[in-house]
Amino acid sequence: MIEIKDLHKSYQTGSNSLHVLKGIDFNVQEGELVSIMGSSGSGKSTLLNILGMLDEADSGSYFLDGIPIKNLNEKIAAQYRNKFLGFIFQSFNLITYKNAVDNVAMPLYYQGVKRKERLEKAMHYLSKVGLADWATHLPNELSGGQKQRVAIARALASEPKVLLADEPTGALDTKTSYEVMDLIQGINDEGKTILIVTHEPDIADMTKRIVNLKDGVIIDDTIVVNQIKALANV
Ligand SMILES: Nc1ncnc2c1ncn2[C@@H]1O[C@H](COP(=O)(O)OP(=O)(O)O)[C@@H](O)[C@H]1O
Ligand SMILES: [Mg+2]
Repeated sequence: MIEIKDLHKSYQTGSNSLHVLKGIDFNVQEGELVSIMGSSGSGKSTLLNILGMLDEADSGSYFLDGIPIKNLNEKIAAQYRNKFLGFIFQSFNLITYKNAVDNVAMPLYYQGVKRKERLEKAMHYLSKVGLADWATHLPNELSGGQKQRVAIARALASEPKVLLADEPTGALDTKTSYEVMDLIQGINDEGKTILIVTHEPDIADMTKRIVNLKDGVIIDDTIVVNQIKALANV
């Protein structure tokens, strides 16, 4: 689903150049749930933004569902983003003056889906995250966990091939974080490909595959086989 090879990215600030991604290689198969772990400044968001077509690498290749992502004009990039990708952010990024169901319906608006179908679909995904009863509430009437659920429903509404989450539990307490991770695991169990960026080892430990990023290189990429983990606990 995702294939990247020898990806490099530097930022120029004034006369300085900061080499942030130093040759990243990795593939993600359809249906995987992967966490990208690393301390602050290791390049996680930079990598996720490139995968999300919000930014472009300096060199290297990126194929998304077999399509080369390179030199796309903004219009095509926006179309691909809308079609392929759903985003979840630490700060939820909900529209403050729109209620929960209208927030979830937003990506469908941009896809040109008619209002009635938009609201039906939005309600479907809001129910899926357990918030059907909160449809007409504004974001400031919701808890942090509920806001993130709305954001997850919004990310699902456009039925993307891949969900990209940048520190989705970063603004939540431990209990709520685990509930949101349970929800994400449930969505993955239904077959959705999901990448989660986190600097919290306990959050990364909840995914089957952990990619460890340090100073712009992958230092470790491990798939935990549940059965073996379970046996070790006997
Ligand atoms: N737009 C930018 N311009 C200049 N430097 C940046 C920019 N974005 C990120 N950086 C720098 O790149 C490095 C990696 O940042 P980032 O990818 O956000 O790391 P992480 O998400 O792992 O904390 C950091 O040193 C950060 O300060
Ligand atoms: Mg980051």
